[in-house]
Amino acid sequence: MKKTIITTSIAVLVILAAIYFLPFNGETGEKSKVTEHTQSIRLPDPVKTGGMPLMEALQNRKSSRTFSGKKIEMQMLSNLLWAANGVNRNESGKRTAPTANDTRAMDIYVIMEDGAYLFNPDEHSIEQISDKDLREFAGRQDFVKKAPLNLIYVSDYSKLKTGSEKEIYSGSHAGFIGQNVYLFCASAGLNTVVRAWVDKDVLKKEMNLKEDAHIILAQTIGFQE
Ligand SMILES: Cc1cc2nc3c(=O)[nH]c(=O)nc-3n(C[C@H](O)[C@H](O)[C@H](O)COP(=O)(O)O)c2cc1C
Repeated sequence: MKKTIITTSIAVLVILAAIYFLPFNGETGEKSKVTEHTQSIRLPDPVKTGGMPLMEALQNRKSSRTFSGKKIEMQMLSNLLWAANGVNRNESGKRTAPTANDTRAMDIYVIMEDGAYLFNPDEHSIEQISDKDLREFAGRQDFVKKAPLNLIYVSDYSKLKTGSEKEIYSGSHAGFIGQNVYLFCASAGLNTVVRAWVDKDVLKKEMNLKEDAHIILAQTIGFQE
């Protein structure tokens, strides 16, 4: 009887310990393995206060095409992606940019020297899709492969119904996100330019995107040369 109680107690303790430690796997380190080929990087919490007054940011918004190779720190990337299309209402998961019928059909891919990633607004993380430097495929202008960061706005056509919805809504979604990025960059002292001049078929192939994923626009971001 006593032996049974001890054995049962040990089993309960082992189960409780497993339950206690399980959720922390993947959350403690900055990088956690999701599968053998992808890793999810939890971004630092975005800083949602401060910045330039809106009217000044609008006054400073412009396209720039000169970039130094200086890298963008994780905190800056976190703030930028949150401004672009992060969750600003936790209860609904809705974003800083509007979407038609709340379809949330636009994905932001992040192309940097160390690889390509998909921004996950719900987790505020980036998920690696490639460990290659794909900047050379991200646009036809020379500055694209020198700048530290290119965002690729990819519409998920499977979330949009009719043909006109697919085209008009996709363009609108990319436009709203792009303008969020322009204003963030104006406020943060970053250079940026939104771009349609991309070999979309080549980039889609290099990024290994699914059939329904359509590259709409790209946006280059970095520091002044
Ligand atoms: C849909 C769209 C596509 C664009 N494509 C490119 C591009 O491929 N390359 C580029 O250098 N600029 C591109 N631009 C930036 C425009 O050239 C720029 O916004 C315009 O010259 C006005 O300058 P501003 O943004 O400083 O006001 C694009 C802008 C938009 C809205």
